[in-house]
Order: sequence, then structure tokens, then C-alpha cells
Amino acid sequence: MKKSYLTALIIISAYALHGCSDRQNATDESPTEEMAKDVSTADDAASVDAREAELVIAADDFKCLDKMTKVRHFFVDNLLAPVDATLAVAQSTTGGVYPPGSVVQLVPTEVMVKHHEGWNAATKDWEFFELDVTNEGSSIRNRGFTDVVNRFGGNCLDCHVKAKPQFDLICELDHGCDPIPISREVIAGIQAADPRCAT
Ligand code: HEC
Repeated sequence: MKKSYLTALIIISAYALHGCSDRQNATDESPTEEMAKDVSTADDAASVDAREAELVIAADDFKCLDKMTKVRHFFVDNLLAPVDATLAVAQSTTGGVYPPGSVVQLVPTEVMVKHHEGWNAATKDWEFFELDVTNEGSSIRNRGFTDVVNRFGGNCLDCHVKAKPQFDLICELDHGCDPIPISREVIAGIQAADPRCAT
């Protein structure tokens, strides 16, 4: 009797914890998916709006850096549209606002993805990701907006928010961010060793 009560308690708490972690430590499933599902039964026009409002990002969306478009020393892509508009901003020396769906990477394990306008004012609509990468692909270790901390203990936004406003949170070396202690030469080596490109 006592044992079955305990088992029930364990199951309930595991369930509650799971629900909680789904919400808080964003994993592969974005909380926005739920919102989009709720509105998908609305009429056609509203569904189109919902699809446009939704940018569901999963581990499979991230690929080997070689399959992205290289701009100077970093890589870009777009999950919603052809890469041209993203590329134009990345190539501009005077900055610009990246279009929704833009993906930017310097190293295989850290990514910024741009959501639709108004998604998150604090991060200028960027979502930060920290990935684990192997020759089998990417998995999402950590994702979110203001509270994503990389494996070296640095909060993504704390550094990137210091970029001059015209650069839309993109740091490079001279946009005003705190520097990272890795030279461009080492970065090039890390890029070339992206294990996802091996397959
Ligand atoms: C200590 C400050 C710092 C932290 C913490 C940090 N970054 Fe950066 N990040 C930089 C700097 C500086 C560059 C530019 C380096 C270069 O161009 O050589 C950069 C470059 C990048 C780039 C390429 C585009 C750009 O801004 O130049 C991406 C994408 C990126 N970081 C994502 C992240 C993500 C995601 C996190 C958290 C998981 C993170 N960064 C944490 C400072 C930081």
C-alpha cells in the first residue's frame, strides 16, 4: 500500500518536473509551437498569420557550417526565405536589421536565430542557442533569449547587447562587444573541424 503510494508520488512528480522543464529549459520544442497549434484551427487568413508568426526551430535546422553562406569570417543562412536579404545585411559595413529566419554562426556550437519583429524586444528578436555537435548532427543544449549562458559561463546577450545599435547585436571585432579570448586563427580551425561536415 505504502509502496504504491510512493510510486504514484514519484510518477506525479516526474510528470510535473517534465512539464516544468519543457517550459523553462527550452529543449528542441519551442513553447511557441503550442501557441501556433492553438490558432491553427482558425480561418484561413488567421492560419496564414499564425504560420508567419511561428518560427519553430529544431535541432535539425542547424547544419554543417560548409552548407551555410560564408561572409568574411562567419556564416549565415535563413530558415524562412532565400538567404539574399540576410546576406545583404551581413555584407554591409554600416549594419542593418537582419530579416526573420536569419541564422548566424561563428563557431559550430553557438548560434543566433532571428524571430519575427516584436518577438523579444530585449534581444532585438534574436534567440540564442548553444548546441552539441557530433558527426550525427546537432542537438540543442541550451536556448532562449536573455538567460542563455555558454559553456564558458558567459551570457550571450550580456556581450552581444553591447554591439552598436546599427549592428543588430552582431559583435565582430569592432562593434563594441566584450572580446572573446579566441583569435580568428583559432576560430578558423574550430570552423574547419565542424564534426557535422564529416557526414
Ligand atoms: C564574452 C562575450 C561573449 C559571449 C559570452 C558570447 N559572445 Fe558571441 N561573440 C562575441 C564576440 C566578441 C564575437 C565576435 C568575434 C569575432 O568576430 O572574432 C562573437 C561572435 C558571435 C557570433 C557571430 C556574429 C557576431 O556577432 O560577430 C555569433 C552567432 C555568436 N557570437 C553567438 C553567441 C552565442 C549564441 C552566445 C551564447 C551561447 C555567445 N555568442 C556568447 C562575444 C561574446
